[in-house]
Amino acid sequence: MPENRENWGTKIGLILDMAGNAIGLGNFWRFPYQVAKNGGGAFMLPYFAALLLLGIPLIYVEWMQGRYGGKYGHGTIGCMTYLQAKEKLGHSSAAIIGALIGMLVFSVTVLVNAYYTQITGWTLGYSYLSLTGGYMGTARSTAEVFGSYIQNPSLSITFWVITLALLAFALSRGVQKGIEAWAKVMMPLLYVFGFILIIRTLTLGSPVNPDWSPIKGLDYIWSPKWSELNWQSALAAAGQIFFTLSLGMGIIQNYASYLKPDEDIVLSATTTVFLNEFAEVILGGTIAIPIAYTFLGPEGVASGVGLSFIALPNVFRMMTGGQFFGALWFLVLFVAGFTSAIAMYNYLITILQEDLNVPRKIGAVVVFGFYILVGLPSALEPILTRTSELIFLTELDNWVGNYFLVIVGLIEAVVVGWLFGEKKAKEEINRGSYWKVPSGFFNVMVKFITPLSIAVLLIFSTKSYIDDGYFKWIPSFVEKTPELIPWVQGARLLLLTILIIGFAETYY
Ligand code: PHE
Ligand code: NA
Repeated sequence: MPENRENWGTKIGLILDMAGNAIGLGNFWRFPYQVAKNGGGAFMLPYFAALLLLGIPLIYVEWMQGRYGGKYGHGTIGCMTYLQAKEKLGHSSAAIIGALIGMLVFSVTVLVNAYYTQITGWTLGYSYLSLTGGYMGTARSTAEVFGSYIQNPSLSITFWVITLALLAFALSRGVQKGIEAWAKVMMPLLYVFGFILIIRTLTLGSPVNPDWSPIKGLDYIWSPKWSELNWQSALAAAGQIFFTLSLGMGIIQNYASYLKPDEDIVLSATTTVFLNEFAEVILGGTIAIPIAYTFLGPEGVASGVGLSFIALPNVFRMMTGGQFFGALWFLVLFVAGFTSAIAMYNYLITILQEDLNVPRKIGAVVVFGFYILVGLPSALEPILTRTSELIFLTELDNWVGNYFLVIVGLIEAVVVGWLFGEKKAKEEINRGSYWKVPSGFFNVMVKFITPLSIAVLLIFSTKSYIDDGYFKWIPSFVEKTPELIPWVQGARLLLLTILIIGFAETYY
């Protein structure tokens, strides 16, 4: 992003940049694993409800906040929130809300990257494995291949550090515009290649077990299981909507702050939602889960955070030219993850620059150091414990992806709907937009339905987590595996530490 306030060159360029930032590993890595973890058909119902009740309203809200802040020369969510909250509140109360949200967003962005950059590293590593035939023989199962990948530092750590170094390099040289231009070429390739994989997936026979097939896999996602609905999956579904649309991190606001003051919001935002959801539900959903179901069966589908990496190689193993296509697919994923990581990295540098006057190059190095520090435990866990549980990573992802993002969304809805006020908000969002939001949008959705749904979700899912023993000092789910206890506790300690640092950072 440019240092002095520039504006987006072309409409199509803006939409592609927003889509490039939204479409990432959330779609291809996180979505399938969340669907599987939450019982397939029981996940998709709250998923679509969350898209309509939370995702779409908040995407408009975030674009609007961003364009508004940009008009006053601000690119970070804390300042924007302050400006809008001040309409109703005095200076100091508005500043507190601004600082609170600034703290959450800073922490979320740092914590997400404690694992996001690692998964991005996995895609690069798997591209390399594909090319060199690392998983081609059938001597080892793909789950074993994955296990040995993450337990082998010369693969897992190396590709992670390469990824981080490439990010730091791109951001300190300010060449991310060039990379984004390149990513625009890769994005259509992602769609084309996704389609090829879908066709290949759906025509798979059942080489392992006649009861397993891609169609059963589709059925697993698409037959609604009303009886299995529960609050934890509902929170997970809401969290996934936030994660995948890049909501609740201040990133949309930051991008939108470069809009001209009367440039279209509603149509552009809707288009990026559509592009992202297509890539997620159609491409992401039709590839990994049916493949997993065909080769690994219902139990294999529940392989946790490694799901996509365990499922996909099965198909490349039996494809002609599988080494090449596998390498290409993981490389495309790498680019998708890399551009999303650039957006987050750049945001952290901007915060350091705007709030603490840290020069850009130094900011890039500071963030690099931060990433290594917070990401190291999850990289080391499989190496030290010799397991593939990845409890540290899963724990962070659960807190950040499911709790924190949604809390930020709640604050945003309250600030815009109640403090900025629906009249101003509506005028602001509709000015220059090709489509207009209807009158009821702020009065009904942003003021009531969106925040109330989030509040209800948070209350009931937290209660259900408590009942399950999730909040105990030694949480119930690790009671039986004592060697993993320190990793869970470590993740929670890290979470608290980063929140405190985030608070200190925004307080100044
Ligand atoms: N939306 C991205 C994904 O689905 C993740 C992301 C979040 C990227 C926030 C940028 C900002 O992978
Ligand atoms: Na996404």
